[in-house]
Amino acid sequence: MKGRLAPRMVVDGRPVLMLAGSNYLDLSGDARVVAAGEEAVRTYGCAAGGSRLISGNLDLHEAFERELASFVGTSAVLVFSTGYTANLGVIPALAGPEDVIVSDALNHASIIDACRLSRSSTRVFRHNDPGDLARVASGLSGFRRRILVLNGVYAMEGDAARLRDLVPIARSYDMIVLLDDTHGLGVLGPTGRGTVEYEGGMSVDIQIGNLGKALGSFGAYVACSETVREFLINRARSFIFTCGLAPGPIGAARAALRILQQESWRRERLLDRARQLREGLDEAGFDTGTSTTHIVPAIVGSEDAVMRTCEAALRKGVYAQGIRHPSVPRGAARIRFTPMCTHSPEEIETTVRVFAELVQRSPR
Ligand SMILES: Cc1ncc(COP(=O)(O)O)c(C=O)c1O
Repeated sequence: MKGRLAPRMVVDGRPVLMLAGSNYLDLSGDARVVAAGEEAVRTYGCAAGGSRLISGNLDLHEAFERELASFVGTSAVLVFSTGYTANLGVIPALAGPEDVIVSDALNHASIIDACRLSRSSTRVFRHNDPGDLARVASGLSGFRRRILVLNGVYAMEGDAARLRDLVPIARSYDMIVLLDDTHGLGVLGPTGRGTVEYEGGMSVDIQIGNLGKALGSFGAYVACSETVREFLINRARSFIFTCGLAPGPIGAARAALRILQQESWRRERLLDRARQLREGLDEAGFDTGTSTTHIVPAIVGSEDAVMRTCEAALRKGVYAQGIRHPSVPRGAARIRFTPMCTHSPEEIETTVRVFAELVQRSPR
């Protein structure tokens, strides 16, 4: 691939429609976002230059954290280098061998790794299933802390966490709720504040958000109380023993955050395109599973069929990503479509047509 992430790109020398990235709101190459990244580099240089606990704490980090906290609606935010390291830092800081983590079956790999690193007991409940969560929660006794960990939008399914059903159960069992809203932030909810807003403002204790998806930059953050922020600064090893996030990505994400608040058309159009795509794929006989958001899978089953179809589609000018085990369970390989707000309805029609021609009918 060459050039900026965009709805239309050149891949292997061929023009293609790009439906395989996380640049959902097409902000990564936006001139205002690029200029803000450049400006931050001119002012601060290319690196933070050290751990934030040593010499790498810039006023830029703290100003951005205040802006993010006011956007997300929490009293504090702490920026991490990536979403992966945010989970690896936060979960083991909160939970140890005397605690239990209750984890959705389809949580992201970084959460699974973080649970292992924490040496806590882990219980897994069926994906997005309140009945199963209640069953698991009712069997917990003798632990110091109980922590429910969810994704906001599940990256391979495209469904949103049923917070309205799950959070009250967690509360009734005195659980801390941690939500990784990597894919929901900036897209879901009337003002783009993510899955919490989309689900009617259900309160969670800690949210993890990402700067590298809808915000088109790089990095991640934890939104929480001042007390938890202070605790993480001193206890989250992936925060302490790593370099502070570089100025360029912060400057870019800061501009993107302002733009997404001013330009609601981006998320509205994105969700429209995703709906059109889902309906088109459904009509063509694909199984789009439980998707309701801007991530749309077509579940095919066979890994070979998925990879062959995606390669053939690329030759015909559409890039969607084939997803196999271990990203999804065996036998559930899928084509994963991630449209952007700047795809036209005609381009979505083309996408459906290309895939429908390649796979007459997918097995359900
Ligand atoms: C739910 C979730 N959490 C964390 C991550 C990791 O984020 P990052 O790419 O910033 O490490 C991802 C990656 O897509 C994700 O889907």
